[in-house]
Amino acid sequence: MSGTYVKAARADEVPAGGRLVVEVDERLIVLFNVSGQFYAIDDVCTHDDGPLSEGELKDYAVACPRHGAKFDIRSGGALTMPATRATGAYDVKVENGDVLIAIGAASSAAETTNATPVGQVAAAAPTVHQPGQEPATAAGPIATAPSGVAPSDPAAAPEAAAGPLSEDSVREALKQVIDPELFVNIVDLGLIYGVTLSDTPDGQSFIGIDMTMTSPACPAGPQLIQNSKDVLGRLPGVSGVDVKLVMIPPWTPDRMTEAARDQLGIF
Ligand code: FES
Repeated sequence: MSGTYVKAARADEVPAGGRLVVEVDERLIVLFNVSGQFYAIDDVCTHDDGPLSEGELKDYAVACPRHGAKFDIRSGGALTMPATRATGAYDVKVENGDVLIAIGAASSAAETTNATPVGQVAAAAPTVHQPGQEPATAAGPIATAPSGVAPSDPAAAPEAAAGPLSEDSVREALKQVIDPELFVNIVDLGLIYGVTLSDTPDGQSFIGIDMTMTSPACPAGPQLIQNSKDVLGRLPGVSGVDVKLVMIPPWTPDRMTEAARDQLGIF
């Protein structure tokens, strides 16, 4: 990382153990002071724009207050799901009591700024926000998380394998349901905790599914449940489907299959 250093705040505005949100070059950036060392990252979670300045900080990892993804404040790297991409991180130095950050070359996809030589302090005027305070302007270029979704499209999905209904065939069918934020099917994500099949008096089968979410507040939950019902309801010999949301035990990334890890670039 390198770039054009601009003043973000006075060092005494960010006490040891504290944090401060500043607006520099139309970006909301949160400064952390860990034992006198300063760190700067974009105040935006790459999962769904949660404000990282409001998250708990422990061992250089800040947890997004919305769904719990953790980021390393030294590099911006995403440490835990549901975030899979780094947030912007900036080089920081302190000169004459001022905290300067290198704006033009964040470690993530932040936009570059003007070409003032590295090390030269540009005349940017930072705006200070308290964590939790509504910013004066929109986050603009730092909003790097995808806002669009890849909606599951059960109607367009291939027909599930014919043959007798079984737990395996149900799980196979559920692979048609794609998490709209992670773009991975719900089976490989490890969201399906259980499948039960019961015979009904008319000679058909009733399917019960225990499904979890990557976080309790997952906004895609209702969509995933409905799409699962739609997919399974179209299987031959199915008289009904019930999807029960189960949050205990909570989902953890180690429930993902190798295929999901590959898809998400997690090794
Ligand atoms: S918005 Fe941060 S984890 Fe979802």
